[in-house]
Amino acid sequence: MSSADDSVVVRFVTEDDKDGWQRLWKSFQEFYEVSFPNELDDFNFKRFLDPTVKMWDAVAVNGLSGEIIGMVNFFSHMSTWDFKDKIYINDLYVGENSKIKGVGRKLIQFVYEEADKLGTPSEYWCTDESNHRAQILYTKIGYKAPKIMYKRNGY
Ligand code: ACO
Repeated sequence: MSSADDSVVVRFVTEDDKDGWQRLWKSFQEFYEVSFPNELDDFNFKRFLDPTVKMWDAVAVNGLSGEIIGMVNFFSHMSTWDFKDKIYINDLYVGENSKIKGVGRKLIQFVYEEADKLGTPSEYWCTDESNHRAQILYTKIGYKAPKIMYKRNGY
């Protein structure tokens, strides 16, 4: 098991993190070959900081340089299958120079811990069938559900 350098800290995003978060968010979009307008970045960032909205972002920060090297966006929603809400992990990204050092694992671990504190210990997410790299991590920290995703249209 690789472990993130002890100097890597994962914490909720703050107002000052906008540039660092947006840089990774743009890289994440490049990875998916999509391009969202800056207005959506602003909208998302506002929601992360709004205590009335159950959507959050956590960032992994290199404790030595202060650079934001990873991010995870997640939100909670109701479910007819439980009294408790569930957490959906929308986006996970680790910067190119920081991959395979345990940062992705640390970011998901943060979501697990915060979800436990919220009393919503059920987390789920999806990834592309072709994203084998992410799946290596995911099968270590969760299990592959026997589900197929359908969409009406869009992304
Ligand atoms: N060969 C062998 N093992 C590997 C390999 C590889 N090529 N790549 C990863 N691993 C293993 C590591 O050894 C590690 O396991 P361990 O903790 O037991 O040692 C695990 O897989 C990787 O864990 P991390 O180092 O924590 O992962 P990383 O920090 O690299 O983040 C991530 C993974 C987020 C998928 C990163 O590669 C990334 O940002 N990729 C591009 C964007 C992406 O695919 N995001 C996820 C989309 S799905 C979603 O957003 C919900």
